[in-house]
Amino acid sequence: MISEPFSAIKINGIELPNRFMRSATHEMAADNEGKITERALDIYGRLGRGNIGLVVTGYAYVSPHGQAMAAQFGAHSEEMVPGLRTLAGAVHAGGGRVALQIVHAGSESPFLRKKGITCLAPSFIDGHDIPHREMSGGEVEDIIRGFGAAAERAKMAGFDAVQLHCAHGYLFSQFLSPLRNKRSDMWGGSAEGRRRFHVEVVREVRRRVDTDFPVLIKYGVMDDQEGGTSLEEGIEAATDMVAAGVDAIEVSAGMGGNKGEAGKGALPYLDRAAALKRAVPVPVGVVHGIRNLETVGDILHRGEVDMVSLSRPFIREPGLINRWLEGDRSPARCISCGQCLRVLFEQEAPPDNCCWQEYRARRKA
Ligand SMILES: Cc1cc2nc3c(=O)[nH]c(=O)nc-3n(C[C@H](O)[C@H](O)[C@H](O)COP(=O)(O)O)c2cc1C
Repeated sequence: MISEPFSAIKINGIELPNRFMRSATHEMAADNEGKITERALDIYGRLGRGNIGLVVTGYAYVSPHGQAMAAQFGAHSEEMVPGLRTLAGAVHAGGGRVALQIVHAGSESPFLRKKGITCLAPSFIDGHDIPHREMSGGEVEDIIRGFGAAAERAKMAGFDAVQLHCAHGYLFSQFLSPLRNKRSDMWGGSAEGRRRFHVEVVREVRRRVDTDFPVLIKYGVMDDQEGGTSLEEGIEAATDMVAAGVDAIEVSAGMGGNKGEAGKGALPYLDRAAALKRAVPVPVGVVHGIRNLETVGDILHRGEVDMVSLSRPFIREPGLINRWLEGDRSPARCISCGQCLRVLFEQEAPPDNCCWQEYRARRKA
């Protein structure tokens, strides 16, 4: 079936008016307890007015031990629900739809490292630069329950969907990867064991939100590291997750990709997304480097994916889709400089002409 950028698509009962997603983008817009700030409401209000098919929030941690970065949204306790409700409301007020992205960082938490807290990981990996230890079977089960509870909070707070962050080297990527998961218990030991965490999280989330609430994943279907998860294994894991209740998949990087430098016209994850789409019966999207409406039309026409996601372009232009709808079809103004990502890792200050400046200034205000 041929789809167009501005044709509707249904994901488990919710109708998205077009094929564009705002990919999850952490804006450092929570307070120190993970609660929603006025600045977050401002950002999401603008996105909500932007005619984007689905807005996905910046990642929210499912337990304090899963926090990746400072000023991140929390979804780890009941106390977060009223704030999350205001966030969903800000998007709805503009006519948009919104999914809460939930995450556990595993051993990839610069935030915990800075605090001197040891991260939890599937296995201890010698030489890994962030202090971590292997988690017990009981801790694995706690985290699975944490995802279920966080997804239920998203539903209670009025979100239209939840998205599990199974990409970018965070905990799901760590469990899947033979480079990071050296366990010999039921949570490792074989390809099937390494994806058991994925399947069990989806089952638990489904149990908590019931059948008619959309559950999405952002998924690094393979690793870009020698000896990492292969495309074949990644597709098998996705197939199992879909059988357990996943409704749509946004393809991104697994371990070793997505350094924030790519994206200058290249679509590094399109081929693997197209391969995954051929294997699963649910909508598949792709993120990274999409800047141009013509390209979107082409890849939808060729049937390679069903949806596309953009992150950095919406930092610069929350109204990008409106601009395209109104007839100015020139490419996104984002220059993919990647400064917004570097600022997040506190590696360096952004240059004066970077659009992230505006965010920082408002944060300090
Ligand atoms: C500032 C910044 C924050 C990000 N935060 C998240 C996040 O919270 N969750 C996530 O899955 N990806 C996050 N990403 C990755 C983006 O969603 C996206 O995958 C990546 O930027 C590539 O897409 P783009 O070329 O359209 O920017 C972030 C990226 C940037 C630049």
